[in-house]
Amino acid sequence: MTDAADATPWVPDSRDLGDLESAAHECRGCELWEPATQVVFGSGGTSAAVVLVGEQPGDQEDRQGAPFVGPAGRVLDEALAEAGIDRSAAYLTNAVKHFRFTARGKRRIHQKPDVRHVTACHPWLGAELEAVGPRVVVALGATAARAVLGRTAKIGELRGQVLEEPDRPVVVTTHPSAVLRLRGRDGYDEAFAGLVADLRLAAPYA
Ligand code: URA
Ligand code: SF4
Repeated sequence: MTDAADATPWVPDSRDLGDLESAAHECRGCELWEPATQVVFGSGGTSAAVVLVGEQPGDQEDRQGAPFVGPAGRVLDEALAEAGIDRSAAYLTNAVKHFRFTARGKRRIHQKPDVRHVTACHPWLGAELEAVGPRVVVALGATAARAVLGRTAKIGELRGQVLEEPDRPVVVTTHPSAVLRLRGRDGYDEAFAGLVADLRLAAPYA
């Protein structure tokens, strides 16, 4: 694989989400498609006011073909409910559309995507945002923030505010997986409350 990873040749001109998703199944824009089970395209309201962007599908998402259907998705569901955002009315997607992992025996361990994967996959995210046309975008974690803002992003510096970006307002927050990792430990309640507080900033746009 060369460094010239780019989804562009597979992205159709259509801004119909069904057309985009069908085309994404054929994407070979980077090498991540090959070991993955399937592409995990965004899903939700086709003209949703809120788009939530994660990092990449996890193990469950890869098997089921839908974003945020595993354990991190349940944390996100709880946080969205507390923040007063209706998940079924939102559109959920990821910065990278294929699951990246390393195999350990039968287990598949999540591996963070590289910047080149985020860059290669960005045309899909751009097309989704054009298709949906949300009033606000919520970036969950540093990878999503990078993809949405187009620059390196530190969550600690950017969270807790609505960023007035050129295309539309953006809220940056922690990734629900980071909250999940604290479950049963000191700091969970605080981390969860922080996620909810950031999501509440997006709720008025919903
Ligand atoms: N984590 C993500 O970033 N996205 C998903 O879809 C699931 C887990
Ligand atoms: Fe294409 Fe993105 Fe999958 Fe890479 S991760 S093959 S760019 S859809």
